[in-house]
Amino acid sequence: MGPASKEMRWETQSGVLAGMPAQWSEARRFWAANRFWMETQNLASKRYGGKRKQHWYAMMVMTKVLEQALRITGYYEAGRAHADDLRLRHIDLAFPDLPPAFDGFTLLHLSDLHLDGSPGLEDRILALIAGQTFDLCALTGDYRAAVHGPHDRAMQALERLVRGIDTREGILGILGNHDDTHMVPPIEAMGVRLLVNERFVLERDGQRLQFVGTDDVHYYYTDQAAVALQSARDAFTIALIHSPELCDAAAAAGVSLYLCGHTHAGQVCLPQGVPLVKHLRAGRAYYRGCWHHQGMLGVTNSGAGTSGIPVRFNSRGEVLVLHLRRRAHGV
Ligand SMILES: [Fe+2]
Repeated sequence: MGPASKEMRWETQSGVLAGMPAQWSEARRFWAANRFWMETQNLASKRYGGKRKQHWYAMMVMTKVLEQALRITGYYEAGRAHADDLRLRHIDLAFPDLPPAFDGFTLLHLSDLHLDGSPGLEDRILALIAGQTFDLCALTGDYRAAVHGPHDRAMQALERLVRGIDTREGILGILGNHDDTHMVPPIEAMGVRLLVNERFVLERDGQRLQFVGTDDVHYYYTDQAAVALQSARDAFTIALIHSPELCDAAAAAGVSLYLCGHTHAGQVCLPQGVPLVKHLRAGRAYYRGCWHHQGMLGVTNSGAGTSGIPVRFNSRGEVLVLHLRRRAHGV
């Protein structure tokens, strides 16, 4: 089959994806056609379990009922104020095998922005990091509030945020379960390097620091995500994966650091931060903070935004600055 007939097959299969950027690799095109089909069919895919229909309507009704209950009881405004109260957190992460050229590397980690659901969030983040330069920034998905529909407002806010972030090596991003195929071109046009089951390698003094980013694995798991992690054997690797649900595959592949978000650390929690819902099917113990899994270090960012209802209780939104250190293992 020649190149012309291949192109025709993509166009026939994917409809509006006929306009996929010409520079996309065949692997990226294959991913996009499958992802777009799942989005339009309202399907979610999980590891080992095939595909199933999503039930957005039930979730929307539950969210509206909870929101009304908060308004009636007077807790809504307090929850909103708490959601807006972002904190900046610096965390030292130590690895005995970090290539020496990257000792002291600083990584700004932002997750779960849901920008169109939290007006002004981009400005609050920029105020927290004003005047600071980082080696790299990693965005671990969920730029939009809803899981379907328009993304224009979220993209406008993301562009404003991205323009204000100062880094030496650029900005990497991955997709979350609230992000769809058609957000890839506008995000890449902002200069963000999106990793869709792909890798990015930095080299200093002949030493390498590798980032492997996967598509979301909460709704849109495919084996392409697990396969992408296999390149971890080639270099010291940081995995960017929207949720902690692929921790076992990443640890087995030799990933050194796993960065994720998705859970919002519960967002609405009982006292002591006990979450009502984690939205995780695997890695449920890793719904917040720093953790270890089979020798791999992980960080679950509690997110800067909110989803569902724009409130937080007993969980705090955060912006993380991770400092990589070459020394005995630890946090
Ligand atoms: Fe998510």
